[in-house]
Amino acid sequence: MQNNFLIFIHLMAAAVGIGSLAYCILFFLPAMEKLPQPQKQPEEHSATYKALEVLAPTVLASVLVLVGTGIYYLLTNYTRQVDLPPGYYDLFGIKMVFVVLVVFLSVYLTFSLRARISNLDLSPESRKLVPATLQQMKTLSQATLVLIVIASFLGIWLARF
Ligand code: HEM
Repeated sequence: MQNNFLIFIHLMAAAVGIGSLAYCILFFLPAMEKLPQPQKQPEEHSATYKALEVLAPTVLASVLVLVGTGIYYLLTNYTRQVDLPPGYYDLFGIKMVFVVLVVFLSVYLTFSLRARISNLDLSPESRKLVPATLQQMKTLSQATLVLIVIASFLGIWLARF
């Protein structure tokens, strides 16, 4: 029962992380870019700014839940680990490489790039950084999406190894 609950939360967090990244990067932002852009509107009032501002911490939160539930699952099942087939931890190690990259990118997006262009009222000199930072956030979010999808594929493989 506890395992079902942990894997349920693990899967829900993966669904929220992948779902929000996929919706924002693949559908929402391309659709917004097709709209006519008002000339006088400051960049921080754009849909891209608002969407990426919410996306980065959402992905980070789901990745932290994934790490927490993943570690807790391993800890509560440690007695079963003697029965695991050889190669399980090789696959687990490969998954962890992708997980580490995803964690690094989400932390960088949330605490460095997003923070650089937040609170523009207090630091108006950062306004000139907005277009380049948003472009960087979009590119790194695409990379995060690819990496988290691979991590999730490796997780599914791991559960059926
Ligand atoms: C980007 C982060 C992660 C994603 C997207 C992810 C995704 C997944 C998915 C989709 C599954 C398959 C579950 C199933 O089909 O039953 C899974 C299984 C698993 N995950 Fe993760 N996971 C992530 C991070 C972690 C972390 C950090 C750990 C541990 C430290 C972990 C440990 C596990 C384990 C042990 C399983 C297999 C459970 C079993 O053998 O039945 N995961 N993961």
